[in-house]
Amino acid sequence: MAAVAALPPKAAPFDPETVRADFPILERRVHDRPLVYLDNAATTQKPRAVLDAEDRFYRRHNANVHRAIHTLGNEATVAYEQAREAVGRHLGAADGRGVVFLRNATEALNLVAWAWARRRLRPGDEILLTPMEHHSNLVPWQMVARETGARLRFIPVGPDGALEMDALDRDGLLGPRTRVVAFAHCSNVLGTITPAEELCRRARAVGAVSVVDAAQSVPHAPVDVGRLGCDFLAFSGHKTYGPMGVGVLWGRPERLEAMEPLFGGGEMILKVELESATWNEVPWKFEAGTPNVAGAVGLAAACAYVRDLGQDRIAAHEAALTRLALDGLGDCPGVTIHGPGPGSPRGALVAWSADGVHPHDLAQYLDQEGIAIRAGHHCAQPLMRQLGVVATARASFGLYNTAAEVEALVGAVRRAREFFHA
Ligand SMILES: Cc1ncc(COP(=O)(O)O)c(C=O)c1O
Repeated sequence: MAAVAALPPKAAPFDPETVRADFPILERRVHDRPLVYLDNAATTQKPRAVLDAEDRFYRRHNANVHRAIHTLGNEATVAYEQAREAVGRHLGAADGRGVVFLRNATEALNLVAWAWARRRLRPGDEILLTPMEHHSNLVPWQMVARETGARLRFIPVGPDGALEMDALDRDGLLGPRTRVVAFAHCSNVLGTITPAEELCRRARAVGAVSVVDAAQSVPHAPVDVGRLGCDFLAFSGHKTYGPMGVGVLWGRPERLEAMEPLFGGGEMILKVELESATWNEVPWKFEAGTPNVAGAVGLAAACAYVRDLGQDRIAAHEAALTRLALDGLGDCPGVTIHGPGPGSPRGALVAWSADGVHPHDLAQYLDQEGIAIRAGHHCAQPLMRQLGVVATARASFGLYNTAAEVEALVGAVRRAREFFHA
């Protein structure tokens, strides 16, 4: 047999053209141009495997979960709990016990803030964050700080977009008062990859809990909660090729055990009296009411889809696209790229400012060419202030994007400058 035929399938080069056929929406035209979808950090498109899994659930198995005696109810319960197991294993956990299904990363982060921190923090305690957090990992902590008297502290972000880790000791940011260390694994604006393992280790060393906002990392590379050593990790299904309306909080089971539920109602109880109730086991005690079963099933299908393609191959492909975008946009006159420069670790996105062209105008110009990017503050207003801008343009990549699409983006950004400077 020829050597090449003997290679395992995952060693074959990643071919985005082949996978594009899995995504029906990519056949669309926008303003009579082929759709170039570069807004993956906001939400990703869905492969047929996910669409079919949701469709199959509703067509064949739809019933409410748990406590059902009838066949469909059992099938739905099995599908839902199998999805939990699959998501747990996708995160490197042994099983699904730490997986709480919620609506999105925002709800997952709020659950930790309200059900863990709100009940434990006291005046003088400290919550350590970074100034590049998405509002979803900032505002809940502000609310909890206001209620408990805890203080918010921030690890500075340097001009290169990296966290200034030496400030942890230099400025006494981390110490016995620190109760929570919460940070994005990958910034949704700068693309900075934070030293998550180190932050989790440092948090543990002072007895603080670590909370990883993995909304922008789980979609792009294998994430292993054991290797990270985190207490909590949050992500959204819709950013990782899964459905909207389903998100995950993974919690170390002993942490989840020690927490009180946030919402009361059906599913989350063991026994209810008129005046009191006892709670179901982890993780069900955090899932009050009817869950998004089809969403969970679709998310499990999305996890299987990226695993079958090979997460490392996807990561390598997206890194190549990001390098191409950094080089191409970096060569455009008047463009300032925010975040780590070439050679530093970076997620699959690039945010930039174009001299004399408002990001909203640019995004509208690109839309006329069928190219979807995002423009705005990206739910990171404090970071915008640090960058000295009110908004940026952002292109973010997914497994189905191609080098030709990045070249189309760069060409259109150049034309936009000429148009707006004419
Ligand atoms: C880093 C980060 N965290 C949290 C979120 C919130 O995600 P969702 O709106 O799905 O809850 C986002 C969304 O863009 C994000 O980029």
